Amino acid sequence: MEMLGSGEADLRRAGEALAAGRLVVIPTETVYGLGADAFNPGAVARVFEAKARPSFDPLIVHIASFDSIEKVARTVPLLARRLAEALWPGPLTLVLPKCPELPDIVSSGLDTVAIRFPSHPLARKIIEYSGTAIAAPSANPFGYISPTTAAHVARSLGDKVDFIVDGGPCAVGVESTVLDVSGEGLPTLLRPGGMPLERIREIAGEVLLPKMRGGPVASPGQLKSHYAPHTKLFLYDWMTSPDSIRIDKSARSAVIVFDALRSRAFKEVSLFDRVCVLSGRGDMREAAFRLFALLHELDAEGFDAIYAERVPEEGLGRAINDRLWRASRK
Ligand code: TXA
Ligand code: MG
Repeated sequence: MEMLGSGEADLRRAGEALAAGRLVVIPTETVYGLGADAFNPGAVARVFEAKARPSFDPLIVHIASFDSIEKVARTVPLLARRLAEALWPGPLTLVLPKCPELPDIVSSGLDTVAIRFPSHPLARKIIEYSGTAIAAPSANPFGYISPTTAAHVARSLGDKVDFIVDGGPCAVGVESTVLDVSGEGLPTLLRPGGMPLERIREIAGEVLLPKMRGGPVASPGQLKSHYAPHTKLFLYDWMTSPDSIRIDKSARSAVIVFDALRSRAFKEVSLFDRVCVLSGRGDMREAAFRLFALLHELDAEGFDAIYAERVPEEGLGRAINDRLWRASRK
């Protein structure tokens, strides 16, 4: 594996490597993606292999202009067009009818395809230099925490990819929101993520929220064990009284809380070896930005257990709670 930087020559190399069928890890505003030419089935197969990802879990196709949507989608329903116009580029993935030219391996045989136009300037340039569309799942081994730095990727997938483009930490920090707009009916939220549901509702009006907890798996991203650290993680409701949490006092444990207020409450009981705050000032964007890096860090430190308190269920809080829930022991 070779590390590349953000200079023009490196971005061009990354794009050309993708066009030649190589695997290139690219930074995006959400998380790092493990990219391959979406129209090269052999390269896409290597993505599944590198991640040990089951073949039934379809990939997101990344494009670098609105017009490129026509290369991958068979049709673009009006609502999808309006959402794309209002919210792209950005952390929103739209599921649309798939065009027949796109290899079936990308969509795991479904007749729909997930499409995203990332806002990250490096991602956009790399895709442009590649001259194609880029299939890219998050660049983590299947089921593990998504990477928000190049170092996270190098540690877990370094020997399985050709290049990693280092673009620094990802600004949003949680994966894109996945919205199904492939049919004539109401749009359906398949995964809460970096684009707040409130923003989508401003454009789309009503959005269906399928029962995500323990219900049938409509999108494989809803598999309930996902994004999990190796360390056991236990999840509590927002504003749980710290005294009521039963923990093994002989174990080394860390707790993750939302803001300074909750941090004080947890420090007072001194039950935990470490109290980690997502955002001292209670800023949901900062909390999302820090979440995965913190999980990576705690996982590397060898705690016996991680405890986490839900955050308020608003804006990016929905995505944070979703990822914490998937990371937790059920
Ligand atoms: O922010 C992101 O979305 C990142 C960056 C790299 O763009 N990518 C990412 O990809 O999170 P991945 O593969 O980890 O998650 C893609 C999600 C999965 O939950 C997958 O099941 C869902 O999108 N998905 C893909 N194609 C789909 C389809 N045709 N119908 C329903 N869900 C689909
Ligand atoms: Mg993923």
